[in-house]
Amino acid sequence: NLKTKVNIAGVELKNPVMTASGTFGSGKEYSEFVDLNELGAVVVKGVANVPWKGNASPRVAETYGGMLNSVGLQNPGVHAFVKEDILFLRKYDTKIIVNIAGRSVEDYCEVAEVLSNADIDMIELNISCPNVKEGCVSFGVNPHTVEAVTKEVKKYCKQPLIVKLSPNVADIAEIAKGAEAGGADAISLINTLLGMVIDIHKRRPVLANIMGGLSGPAIKPVAVRMVYQVAQAVKVPIIGMGGISNGDDAIEFMLAGASAVAVGTANFFNPRATIDVKEGIENYMKKYGISNIKDIVGNITV
Ligand code: DOR
Repeated sequence: NLKTKVNIAGVELKNPVMTASGTFGSGKEYSEFVDLNELGAVVVKGVANVPWKGNASPRVAETYGGMLNSVGLQNPGVHAFVKEDILFLRKYDTKIIVNIAGRSVEDYCEVAEVLSNADIDMIELNISCPNVKEGCVSFGVNPHTVEAVTKEVKKYCKQPLIVKLSPNVADIAEIAKGAEAGGADAISLINTLLGMVIDIHKRRPVLANIMGGLSGPAIKPVAVRMVYQVAQAVKVPIIGMGGISNGDDAIEFMLAGASAVAVGTANFFNPRATIDVKEGIENYMKKYGISNIKDIVGNITV
């Protein structure tokens, strides 16, 4: 009888496993592979106040241990999302977390305001997408701007606010403290690590955008290290992600201090990765006689 429920800022998840934002649009495609009832939460692709068309192609490249993307937050806008996707997701017994994007503080606030009247469980503030020039990660690399944008967006949120952090920073603990000071109810990390892949035959970058965000197993040790540092620095719950493909990976993040985990890139290689992660966590608990998942969080000896 394993206790796998986790509580993130007052929202109870039946288990700690969620999809990472951007793995698919808003769940319809994914529900063909996985019963969404099995997940603690579904995190949808970032939405902005108006539709964004994203960056030029090619914008995805496979690389050793992961992939590089420069999608540029293509999305249909929050109004289309609210109209088309929430009712679909609400058919499932899982929590709905909506990632939000903006070019300005006002953009984010507008999205949060629209969502405040929508039937969703949490908002994830994306100040960490490395693929757009305006907004997003430009707010996420300085503790003061992180605090300011969090504080402002929070005014418009009725749901708990998760702030998603970028690994492309010098001091992740200081960034996390900024988010907490701004009123973040939880912190998620890491977004993708800025990288570059070159086609040596054509002698040019593979991605039209030249650079992109690296995800997948290649970034896992960076992500675990950052989750650990953030867990030492703040009191709010942490959602960990970055190269999680199986239960053992998830346990590593939880031992580092994450209360929940998200699976992103692994879904592209194995559409049932989230289920593998969930079952792997349960197997670990059985193997070590851990009855309550909370006993894993941050439980390492250093
Ligand atoms: O790597 C990423 N790609 N992170 C984001 O937050 C957004 C996404 C994109 O659309 O470019």
